[in-house]
Amino acid sequence: TMQGLVDRYGRVATDLRVSLTDRCNLRCTYCMPAEGLAWLPKPTLLTDDEVVRLVRIAVEKLGVTEVRFTGGEPLLRPGLVKIVAAAAGLGPRPQLSLTTNGIGLARIAHQLRTAGLDRVNVSLDALSADTFTSLTRRNRLDDVLAGLAAADAAGLRPVKINSVLMRGINDTEAVPLLRFALDHGYELRFIEQMPLDAGHTWQRAEMVTAEEILAQLRGAFELTPDPAHRGAAPAETWLVDGGPAKVGVIASVTRPFCGACDRTRLTADGAIRSCLFSTTETDLRTMMREGADDARLAAAWAGAMWAKKPGHDINDLTFLQPARPMSAIGG
Ligand code: GTP
Ligand code: 5AD
Ligand code: SF4
Repeated sequence: TMQGLVDRYGRVATDLRVSLTDRCNLRCTYCMPAEGLAWLPKPTLLTDDEVVRLVRIAVEKLGVTEVRFTGGEPLLRPGLVKIVAAAAGLGPRPQLSLTTNGIGLARIAHQLRTAGLDRVNVSLDALSADTFTSLTRRNRLDDVLAGLAAADAAGLRPVKINSVLMRGINDTEAVPLLRFALDHGYELRFIEQMPLDAGHTWQRAEMVTAEEILAQLRGAFELTPDPAHRGAAPAETWLVDGGPAKVGVIASVTRPFCGACDRTRLTADGAIRSCLFSTTETDLRTMMREGADDARLAAAWAGAMWAKKPGHDINDLTFLQPARPMSAIGG
């Protein structure tokens, strides 16, 4: 009965990523300038009730089975626990996850678990305090490490770590990061840097490729392909030293995975993006505030997804970076 979020290439979006704010308390150099960005105006942000309504429509009417909350930094959203609890109350209950920089997670991990959150992915690009501080422009490494530990203790497992390596800045951290992850039972993934920075300064030659990262890791560990089915996961995974520990690479640029994409995105100001790299959006906020009913919102969402591009065109000469930066999309 439910047609769901299908596109003209036959992909079905069952994984919703909800950005809850475009603000962040770090200033990672690959993402934002030191002074921050022009934040979305308050009145354009969805209220908690509006977010929950759209998540409900996605789950009940559009076949979404997994919901990930992102930002900016989603822990900065005062209503986060309430929103998670409401999402956990939907039927069929979606899988619920969070992508966070980990700051403040120690304080709230248990509450999030109780509200129904299943797991977290935490960004961590360096284990050296100096490198962490110069990369994020904030001296908060200890908060992130405490957040990881608290998430694990609260049962938000598997705890995954996302690392972006930047040439000459933290590209010697791959092996230490993996040792750290293995020691703590966290699942580490290295991400190729994508052209989504606010400054539009991304350069292909500066990007540390999945091949380079794997070569570094192979100097210290034995990697064998993970026999587990990859599905629509952005990460390709390897067993480390025979397993069961794994390490992943998210090679969006050198090994795109768009053909299996199952994602739909909702921005903090209520726009649907069919792709991380969409150059057009569908504004559900205005429709909603003008009184559209659930069926109309669902139809508009489905229409947005039908028009999804077959994939990103980062590797084409004609590539144009979307106007909205990563921090306002949610990754
Ligand atoms: P898991 O379900 O735990 O595997 O989450 P995930 O890896 O899909 O999500 P996460 O928020 O941890 O994102 C990790 C990296 O993958 C970030 O750099 C995201 O921007 C990137 N990513 C997530 N979804 C997509 C996508 O649809 N396309 C591309 N190209 N990159 C994505
Ligand atoms: N390319 C790839 N990953 C990025 N992230 C932020 N900006 C980029 C980029 N330009 C990562 C963050 C976080 C995840 C959601 O996306 O480090 O781990
Ligand atoms: Fe999906 Fe777009 Fe990401 Fe490709 S770039 S995997 S189409 S969201």
